[in-house]
Amino acid sequence: VAIFNVDGELHAVDDACSHAGAPLSQGRIDGSAVTCPWHGATFDLTSGDSMSPPASGAVRKYAVRIEGDEIQLAEANGASRLEP
Ligand code: FES
Repeated sequence: VAIFNVDGELHAVDDACSHAGAPLSQGRIDGSAVTCPWHGATFDLTSGDSMSPPASGAVRKYAVRIEGDEIQLAEANGASRLEP
């Protein structure tokens, strides 16, 4: 999992590009988009959606919550698991 700080808001996605598995944590950030370091696909960090080729699929997105000194994650479609 890679966690990005976009204007003070944390976004977590799988740290593996959906094209060939490059570490997105090594990518360049531009606004809320990250560019894959291997072949240049871009992903929207707010959704995990692919924005440009050669990646055609989204990367998994996680809900993020700060609890004390912990960063807690849950699959975005299971965000209710973060509720107390
Ligand atoms: S591994 Fe990311 S675009 Fe190819």
